[in-house]
Amino acid sequence: MPIQPIRLFGDPVLLTPSNEVVDFDKELRVLVADLIETMHDAPGAGLAAPQIGVPLRVFVWDIDDALGHLINPTLDLSDDMQEGEEGCLSFPDLSYSTPRSMRVVAKGWNMFGEPVNIEGSELLARALQHETDHLNGVLFIDRLSPENRKLAMKEIRQSQWFGLAQDSGTEPIVKLSPHNTFGIGL
Ligand code: CO
Repeated sequence: MPIQPIRLFGDPVLLTPSNEVVDFDKELRVLVADLIETMHDAPGAGLAAPQIGVPLRVFVWDIDDALGHLINPTLDLSDDMQEGEEGCLSFPDLSYSTPRSMRVVAKGWNMFGEPVNIEGSELLARALQHETDHLNGVLFIDRLSPENRKLAMKEIRQSQWFGLAQDSGTEPIVKLSPHNTFGIGL
């Protein structure tokens, strides 16, 4: 399956809540394969369908050598929190300390329509929260402290890539190379 262009911040699809998957068909399995291939190519630790322009509630991750995907997720979040550097493939070269719940129980379906239950802590918990946010049109910069968000927006406005999404019309966005995501790209 082909590697897809990754949409950059500024593309409206990243701010749009995605739709529930209804048909667990071959098309869905192709989408999951495309997401995995595109994530590995970036490389990144997670990728959500809207990041390749598909507004469906699907994401994939590859954390600690464990590859996974989840469809129509719902999350139970722990009250205890973690702080750590977080990045996103839709924000090249940007990484900020981002508060997240330490543990997550994610419920959803696999691409064959079977119910699955994913329990994660630390980095996996962070990825599950980050990717589920993508499905709701929420981005990691929305989770930053007000001070860090201000710094992030300044860095974004000064970045080489800012404006590419808006200027591109309906053309696919091609990610910049090299594609350093510092900590983790999700
Ligand atoms: Co992301």
